[in-house]
Amino acid sequence: MSSCRLVIFGATGDLVRRLLLPALYNLAATGLLPERCALIGVAREQQSSEAFRQSLLDALREHLSGRFDLQVATRLLASARYVRGDIDYPGTYANLAAALTAMEEHRVASANRLFYLALPPMTFATVVNNLARFDLTTEREGTGWRRVIVEKPFGVSLDSAMALNRALADTLGERQLYRIDHYLGKASVQNIQTLRFGNGIFEPIWNREYIDHVQITVAETVTAERRGRFYDATGALRDMVPNHLFQILAAVTMEPPSHFDARSVHEAKAAVLGAVRPGGYGERSDALVRGQYTAGAIDGVNVNAYRDTPYVASSSATETYVALNLRVDTPRWSEVPFYLRTGKALKRHRAEVAITFKRSPPMMFSEQQAERLTANVLVLEIAPEEGVGLRLNAKSPNPLLDIGGVNMKFQFRDYFDAVRAVGYEKLIHDCMSGDSTLFQSAEMVEAGWRAVAPFTDGWVGSGAQGPYPYPAGSQGPAEADALLARDGRAWRPLAEEDIA
Ligand SMILES: NC(=O)c1ccc[n+]([C@@H]2O[C@H](COP(=O)([O-])OP(=O)(O)OC[C@H]3O[C@@H](n4cnc5c(N)ncnc54)[C@H](OP(=O)(O)O)[C@@H]3O)[C@@H](O)[C@H]2O)c1
Repeated sequence: MSSCRLVIFGATGDLVRRLLLPALYNLAATGLLPERCALIGVAREQQSSEAFRQSLLDALREHLSGRFDLQVATRLLASARYVRGDIDYPGTYANLAAALTAMEEHRVASANRLFYLALPPMTFATVVNNLARFDLTTEREGTGWRRVIVEKPFGVSLDSAMALNRALADTLGERQLYRIDHYLGKASVQNIQTLRFGNGIFEPIWNREYIDHVQITVAETVTAERRGRFYDATGALRDMVPNHLFQILAAVTMEPPSHFDARSVHEAKAAVLGAVRPGGYGERSDALVRGQYTAGAIDGVNVNAYRDTPYVASSSATETYVALNLRVDTPRWSEVPFYLRTGKALKRHRAEVAITFKRSPPMMFSEQQAERLTANVLVLEIAPEEGVGLRLNAKSPNPLLDIGGVNMKFQFRDYFDAVRAVGYEKLIHDCMSGDSTLFQSAEMVEAGWRAVAPFTDGWVGSGAQGPYPYPAGSQGPAEADALLARDGRAWRPLAEEDIA
């Protein structure tokens, strides 16, 4: 691919400045952008193309982790243009079309076009519709490809996701549409499939016969401070579960696809997400716990209560923490509990999958020794470090039969060259290469919303349950501990020290 016009709607926003732009820089620095890649930014703010280029340069200096090379930045931004306009006004698209034509007149007429919608989610259908109206996304012989990336969240419920899928399908082919979830850009999330299907030792035991339960955690220390308006209308369940947590769940539980192509992987993931059900014993409190942080301290820094966040109602019942007990209703996973939790303002930033295996029969050990045997736990660490750990039992090297738990660890940074990445690099590169494997299909998105519908529709809406308070800087509400204690289990502590 030698050329690409990258049109970014929402080019002055947080996502672009903090994440997309550094990702584009990293791609440029490693030679992975097309030779002739030109940026066009669209937003409502009044500014010249010159001022836009300068603001992108400033954003790169502020947000790039690692060395800043002015030559790379200049190469990336030299031909960047700015089109001012509201996405609701037809004139915006006419101006965009003119800017694209002007760029292409003097170069290749068949430049590929990627439209990135870094916009508020309710605007996606309007923009895609208008792009088609102005003939900007039609693919014809000799025009090059036209693709659109839409950000998460994709809808706020099953009905709205289905309506959005229908609206986008009116003017855009499914193979032109890339629904992004940047969790899939993380090497450790992609590694789940390699670990499962690329190592002969795991698949034979990856099922109900050997696995006792699975915990998936995405714990954040950040608060809702900068995103009060969006967050209060959304909450932890809608913001994180149907997308990030379910992407991880699908990678852990999917059946092996016949090929690693986009279609086979999407079908396998949609099928397993379609089998997700509330767990527990039929009571609401068995399957869902919602929490909301109160004032506290994280790493010694005082944090205001969620209800004191700008743009959040002082009586808000929005959850900033959610814990779920789920089942995956397939022969492989029958009766294996899947415990998921995510929240803001927690004690530690940590994202991981912990797979706890059934215990071995302890007959050969004395009662005292058997008590010290721990269950084997395979931990797939996603953040802050990326790696894999395994908890084993071992005999200590002394004359007695002293048994205790030990950890085996592998961390990406010890084995692979440090790759400077914010997580969007692979996804943007894949989209430019036409590979949608790591993006979400319409079926996957709908299956995700269908699986959380029992929680979002009846239970949360009824207001009957929570949110339970938890102090900022804690491990979450005590009620979430009870969710597992009922099954005789406990959450893994949110500690940063030990991988397994
Ligand atoms: N920020 C993140 O960390 C993050 C992470 C994952 C996903 N996302 C998703 O990414 C998208 C953007 O988020 P963000 O945090 O960057 O939001 P943001 O900071 O509020 O930026 C929104 C951008 O959209 C533009 N915009 C809004 N309404 C417009 C309109 N009617 N016409 C033209 N431009 C308009 C804004 O520019 P003007 O106001 O100047 O027009 C601004 O450039 C959202 O869908 C969000 O859910 C964000």
